[in-house]
Amino acid sequence: MSKFLLSALFGAAVALSSSAFAADQTLAEFHADMGGCESCHADGASASADGAFEFEQCQSCHGSLAEMDDKHKAHDGMMMCQDCHVTHEMNVGQKPTCDACHDDGRQ
Ligand code: HEC
Ligand code: HEC
Ligand code: HEC
Ligand code: HEC
Repeated sequence: MSKFLLSALFGAAVALSSSAFAADQTLAEFHADMGGCESCHADGASASADGAFEFEQCQSCHGSLAEMDDKHKAHDGMMMCQDCHVTHEMNVGQKPTCDACHDDGRQ
C-alpha cells in the first residue's frame, strides 16, 4: 500500500471518529467522496459482472474476512463484503442483520 493511500486512509478515519458525518449517505457515496467511484470500480462507472474486482478493492483497504472479527471470519471463503454491506443501498452506520440470511435468531 502506498504512503499516499495510508495517509489518506488515516485522515479519513480521524475525520470519521472526530466529527459528525452524513449518516444518510450510502456506503458508495461515502467512499466516492473520499476516493471517487474508481476506488471500487475498474472503469470508475459500473460494476464487474461477478463483483470480484469490487471485493478485491474492499479487501485492499479493510483486510480480508479472515483478518476481521468472528462474525466476519465465519463467512471467509463463502461471501463477498457486498453480500452483506449492500454498497449502493445501505447507509453509513447501518449494520447488516444476521436474520437477512439465518432464521435461527442468531446475532
Ligand atoms: C465502496 C465501493 C463502491 C464505490 C465507491 C462505488 N461503488 Fe458502485 N458498486 C459497488 C458494488 C459492490 C456494487 C455491486 C452492487 C452492490 O453491492 O450494491 C456496485 C454497483 C454499481 C453499479 C451497477 C448497478 C447497481 O447498482 O447494482 C453501478 C452502475 C455503479 N456501482 C456505479 C457507481 C458509481 C457511478 C460510483 C461513484 C458515484 C460508484 N458506483 C461508487 C461498489 C462501489
Ligand atoms: C456475513 C455478513 C458480512 C460480511 C460478508 C461482511 N460484513 Fe462487515 N459487518 C457485518 C456486520 C453484521 C457488522 C456489524 C458489526 C458487528 O456486529 O461485528 C459489520 C461491520 C463492519 C464494519 C464496521 C462498521 C461499523 O459500523 O462499525 C466494517 C468496516 C466492515 N464490516 C467491513 C467489511 C468488509 C471490508 C467486508 C469484506 C472483507 C465485510 N465487512 C464483510 C456483516 C458482514
Ligand atoms: C480506498 C480504500 C477503501 C475501499 C476500496 C473501501 N473502503 Fe470502506 N472505508 C474506507 C475508509 C477510510 C473508511 C472510514 C474509516 C473506517 O470506518 O474504517 C471506510 C468505511 C467503511 C465502512 C464503515 C462505515 C460505517 O458504517 O461506519 C464499511 C461498512 C465499509 N467501509 C465497507 C466497505 C466495502 C463493503 C467496500 C467494498 C465494496 C469498501 N468499504 C471499500 C476505505 C475503503
Ligand atoms: C448475506 C447472508 C448472510 C448474512 C447477512 C449472515 N450470514 Fe452467516 N452465513 C451465511 C451463509 C450462506 C453461511 C454458510 C452456510 C451455513 O453454514 O449456514 C453462513 C455461515 C455462518 C456461520 C458458520 C456456520 C454456522 O451456521 O454456524 C456463522 C457462525 C454465521 N454465519 C454467523 C452469522 C452472524 C452472527 C451473522 C450476523 C452478524 C451472519 N452470519 C450474517 C450467510 C449470511
